Amino acid sequence: MRDARGAGCVGGAGAYRRMRGGFSLRGSYCTLRLISGNGGKPAQGMHLEAVMTRTGATGAAAGIHGHTEADDDVSKRLLDSAATLSYDPATEIDWDAPLPAGDYGLNAEWSTLYGTRLWDEMTEEQRVTLTRHEVCSIMTTGIWFEMILQQMVLRDQYLKNPAGAEFRFALTEIADECRHSIMFARACEKMGVPQYRPNPVIAQAGRLFKATARGELAYGGILVAEEVLDVMQRDWMRGGNVLDIVRGTSRIHVVEESRHMKFARQQIRERMRGASPARRRAAATGIAAGAYVIVSSMVHPGVYTAAGLDRERAVAEVRANEHRKAMMRTSSRHLMAFLAECGLLTKASAAVYRRVHML
Ligand SMILES: [Fe+2]
Ligand SMILES: [Fe+2]
Repeated sequence: MRDARGAGCVGGAGAYRRMRGGFSLRGSYCTLRLISGNGGKPAQGMHLEAVMTRTGATGAAAGIHGHTEADDDVSKRLLDSAATLSYDPATEIDWDAPLPAGDYGLNAEWSTLYGTRLWDEMTEEQRVTLTRHEVCSIMTTGIWFEMILQQMVLRDQYLKNPAGAEFRFALTEIADECRHSIMFARACEKMGVPQYRPNPVIAQAGRLFKATARGELAYGGILVAEEVLDVMQRDWMRGGNVLDIVRGTSRIHVVEESRHMKFARQQIRERMRGASPARRRAAATGIAAGAYVIVSSMVHPGVYTAAGLDRERAVAEVRANEHRKAMMRTSSRHLMAFLAECGLLTKASAAVYRRVHML
């Protein structure tokens, strides 16, 4: 799955081919990867210096976290890409079309119960109801995350140079997220599924995180949420018996989020340049804690009650579901590889990722 997805990110999908230069940054990424993969040995450190001098680290785009003009080029390309291919869900989706009674909310294999005995015992009608509630639970969780990330990105850009491409792309991303949240809200309303809220403790933890997380911690949390959702939605947008409304919203989200993920990766790389081991370890643990909350909050247990199932039995079967665990591990491979590359996959954080089957 990771390979197919990676190909999509560098121009495999038709939509991405239309993006001008959005994915031609691999040369500079490879250079940085070499440097960070060397454990900070002097020879590579000198290489980094050379790159930064050549690209003008002290130019107008240089900022408080060592943002260079080369870094700003990443944002410029993302802005070009956004200008070439962005969507307005209000007109892109046929919101008035009736929902075919037998269509699922998401591909069966993405249902949390798929592969369990309970799934085999369920009627087709229950599967339809369950998958619609599951997708809406994920969408409302998506709205929650998007509200958190918009605030973090806005705070991160406070008083940054408005002439810089980083500032402009960050605001473009916030505008995208506004449209996404409204799109998800409309989709849930259309499917007739009420809001699923995180439990009160998690809701307060989210409030604290959005108010305090900065730099690599903020962008790490953003990246985790975007990566996990991205892999699912790449399947949903092609799902054979999946509702058109879910296929359409997934397609829009996948295209626009691929830019957000590139931006988040770039921000993390910038903040991690020359970071001390202690800072790296702290960030790794914080991002893993965020991932734990994100993954464990995606599907609310109320979806099982809505499908007429015994909630306790359903939750127990989901916890033991080996198919689900395998899907989570496959979905997280790309993210884990990136975190490892940035030195953000420590022993402590790996233990957390294992607990939620991301590793
Ligand atoms: Fe989004
Ligand atoms: Fe996003």
